[in-house]
Amino acid sequence: MLGSTNAITPKGYDVFREYLEKVCGIMLSDNKQYLVASRLGKILERENIAKLEDLVVLLSRGGKSALKEEVINAMTTNETLWFRDAHPFNILKSKILPEKGNKSLRIWSAASSTGQEPYSISITLEEFRSGSSIAADKIIATDICTNILAHAKQAEYDHLAIARGLSDSMQKNYFDKLENGSWKIKPNIRNRVDFKYLNLIDSYASLGKFDVIFCRNVLIYFSAELKLDILTRMHKVLNPGGYLFLGGSEALSGLSSMYDIIQCHPGIVYQAK
Ligand SMILES: C[S@@+](CC[C@H](N)C(=O)[O-])C[C@H]1O[C@@H](n2cnc3c(N)ncnc32)[C@H](O)[C@@H]1O
Repeated sequence: MLGSTNAITPKGYDVFREYLEKVCGIMLSDNKQYLVASRLGKILERENIAKLEDLVVLLSRGGKSALKEEVINAMTTNETLWFRDAHPFNILKSKILPEKGNKSLRIWSAASSTGQEPYSISITLEEFRSGSSIAADKIIATDICTNILAHAKQAEYDHLAIARGLSDSMQKNYFDKLENGSWKIKPNIRNRVDFKYLNLIDSYASLGKFDVIFCRNVLIYFSAELKLDILTRMHKVLNPGGYLFLGGSEALSGLSSMYDIIQCHPGIVYQAK
């Protein structure tokens, strides 16, 4: 069965990775057969599908949207943590928020995973505003993976997830302990964040305009061409002078006509021209 890497033929693997890139941009390198086998093995067994190429034929025919969603969910990598890399949140607090003053901001977390990124942004806003501002900031958090969007909306985290990047004082100030031992984000932090399904290869027109975009640790899965396309379309939904944060290993190149690089010591943010 497909739970084992040996059961994936070179043809099956090629057909599947072409399909995956077409539907969600995620590129698989030549040697990720083990990943496909471990992530899709159970689904294929349950559906009684013996070959990867048969799965692609079935999905390409249409009418199997729940199965397609399940396959995409399984193939996403949702690794994240609170205040990941620290710099973007420090730059938001010490540069961008003082610059914008009392203006209400619209911020997009463009691959929000289980919610740690948008909620870290919301905590940063809360600390800057200190509860006294009239600004009605909004964070739009989007992702393609429907399982993790549901988890993010729930805003509940077990002790392992809580331990990754959160200080004791933040845990105390912004989370309530639940009877089951998990921790839930307080309503004032939660209410600023709206979660939505969005595939980054699709249009952003329905999202409106933003002052800041966080697009971190997702472009690494895409081709150079798709990265360029996404960052060009993000420029169109950034207000003039708006800011863009990328992940630590993601650099922007070939777009100097659209973005200025701002060195922040430490960290980098891109500003829309
Ligand atoms: C590694 S996580 C990064 C989470 C967060 N931005 C961070 O830096 O910690 C990557 C996220 O990108 C999402 N993703 C992958 N392909 C996507 C696509 N085509 N459209 C939208 N989200 C996508 C995955 O579901 C996953 O939650």
